[in-house]
Amino acid sequence: METSSPILRVGVVGYGHLGKYLVDRLLKDGPGLGLTLGFVWNRNSDKLKGLVPAEAILEDLSFFANRRCNVIVEVCHPQIVREFGVHFLSQSHFMVGSPSALSDFDLNQKLRQASMQHGRTLYVPSGALWGGQDIQRMNDSGTLKALFIRMSKHPSCFRLKSDVLADWEEGEGRRVLFRGSVAELCPLAPNNVNTMAAAAMAAGTLGFTGVQGEIVSDTELRDYHIVEVEVTGSDGFSVHTVRRNPARLGAVTGSATYQSFWNSLLICKGHGGRVYLC
Ligand SMILES: NC(=O)c1ccc[n+]([C@@H]2O[C@H](COP(=O)([O-])OP(=O)(O)OC[C@H]3O[C@@H](n4cnc5c(N)ncnc54)[C@H](O)[C@@H]3O)[C@@H](O)[C@H]2O)c1
Repeated sequence: METSSPILRVGVVGYGHLGKYLVDRLLKDGPGLGLTLGFVWNRNSDKLKGLVPAEAILEDLSFFANRRCNVIVEVCHPQIVREFGVHFLSQSHFMVGSPSALSDFDLNQKLRQASMQHGRTLYVPSGALWGGQDIQRMNDSGTLKALFIRMSKHPSCFRLKSDVLADWEEGEGRRVLFRGSVAELCPLAPNNVNTMAAAAMAAGTLGFTGVQGEIVSDTELRDYHIVEVEVTGSDGFSVHTVRRNPARLGAVTGSATYQSFWNSLLICKGHGGRVYLC
């Protein structure tokens, strides 16, 4: 007897660069892959008119549960994770596109608890992180000793909550902006360090305070961002990866990250009440 997989209904929260990309892919490729668009919410719904089928537009996010989605994807702002994350997990699996929000210890704990309590998965997309699953495996087997991530970008690609880059000039070269724990970096550069936050989730035993990061401004990097990951294990084991992520000048998100988010979404079919790097 032939069995068909159930259709996965996806709710998309946020309609900026990533949200629009995911919605377009859902409308174009979703039906062939067993995915359907359950709703799209944006704080200004006028932006959706003519671009999203009228029946998919959700005007008020507090009514998200009526749309009965299997998975909800946040590609919006850490504030929405704070306000709605626990509610989303009470109804659906939840893919958190702004994992820098999870540097808040209380929120992190609340989301983990909600996930366990409701048996729904808190998905963290790997984004521009290379080797996240390997890091998670080392973490789970107790062999992960240290983790360091450096993200280097053209200064126009940073959105910082400080004026440390206010005086940058074309041609100035390389400048280390900040080095410290991912817990310290997330509030400083919430839009730029989601990859580090994903790594801190994968490396749960080190956590946001144990994983170290560095952000570097480099005017030479006009066409791509660089993400370096240094993993230290036991008995002298180490891995160092260097990822070049093509990106336009001024772009916060590298272009390969869009496809990476789509691939992550395809994994969100339910992995029980736990955090899952996808
Ligand atoms: N996990 C990763 O690797 C990764 C990569 C890129 C971006 N991100 C994160 O994903 C999110 C979306 O990224 P993007 O490139 O699409 O951003 P974007 O700026 O293009 O879009 C963000 C959308 O959210 C809306 N928005 C902003 N602040 C809001 C608020 N406080 N309340 C409600 N709506 C708000 C904006 O109007 C916009 O529609 C951001 O938080 C970004 O930091 C994560």
